[in-house]
Amino acid sequence: MSSAEKAAQIITQVDKHDIRVLTAIELGMIKFHVVPPRELIRITGFSQGRLDFHLNRLYRNDLIYRQSDPYLGYLMNYTAYDLLALNAIVKARLIDFLGPSIGVGKEADVFEGVTSEEVTVALKFHRLGRTSFRDTKRKREYLAERRHTSWLHQSRLAAEFEFKALQLMYEAGVSVPKPIHQNRHIIIMEYIKGVQLSDIISLEDPEEFLMSILDNMRLVYKAGVIHTDLSEYNILIDEDGRDWIIDWPQYILTDHHNAEEILARDIGNVAHYFKRKHETSMSNQEAVEYVKTG
Ligand SMILES: Nc1ncnc2c1ncn2[C@@H]1O[C@H](COP(=O)(O)OP(=O)(O)OP(=O)(O)O)[C@@H](O)[C@H]1O
Ligand SMILES: [Mg+2]
Repeated sequence: MSSAEKAAQIITQVDKHDIRVLTAIELGMIKFHVVPPRELIRITGFSQGRLDFHLNRLYRNDLIYRQSDPYLGYLMNYTAYDLLALNAIVKARLIDFLGPSIGVGKEADVFEGVTSEEVTVALKFHRLGRTSFRDTKRKREYLAERRHTSWLHQSRLAAEFEFKALQLMYEAGVSVPKPIHQNRHIIIMEYIKGVQLSDIISLEDPEEFLMSILDNMRLVYKAGVIHTDLSEYNILIDEDGRDWIIDWPQYILTDHHNAEEILARDIGNVAHYFKRKHETSMSNQEAVEYVKTG
């Protein structure tokens, strides 16, 4: 079971006081290497006994780590972070259910979600610096470094970046999933019923499809943005044959010192892919020129 699915299951087994303690650990992790109980008491206002009761329940549900050396303290894991974000999203009535997984990548897990109006949306969980603790020696080494809290900040930052990019692109009229909400490391966006370009064997009119992507890229460039990870894996095609550009956390602005080179690589990737797989005639150079002179 994935971390998000575990979190969706555990959400029914924890109460609001458990959530309060988890939120206190989240806050404490900004300041502390490992969060000591006195900080959790300070933030929650709970007595030691009450805090221990909730910490034990969180521990039994595999949501937190307990460290005893050099001092007693607590840390939460990705499932706990998923749970906090999902809890906030559910409470804000943004989704009612977490649906099936639709994409598991190295740095993100994407799921379907269902809103109270029974609309399907896409939930992208950003996961940077994911670490597994199967090996206790590695766990000890990892806990000894400061790096262990950075996954939380990195994954939240990635979600903030991607949400910002989707907002910018949506406003600029680029064909991107409509951004709906962001909480911690999760973004909620419009669900695109389609497939990755890389999975398409033949296109009715490849030249026209390529031009549609390049027209989108003109709008992106005009808005002062470069995707930087454009490829057949980050372009979806829906049932009407429309192209959608996804996966934006790594975007840069066109005043970046390597902008020209990165733009040429992005557009070159697509033009080259079409030429090879769908026998289009446009050269990489022509495609880049087309985008820049929009
Ligand atoms: N809005 C969406 N609607 C439908 N499916 C989506 C949506 N967003 C993503 N997906 C599916 O999930 C897959 C992964 O999404 P995305 O490319 O954004 O992340 P990723 O490639 O895992 O991220 P990274 O490359 O950073 O690890 C996509 O290829 C697509 O199949
Ligand atoms: Mg991708």
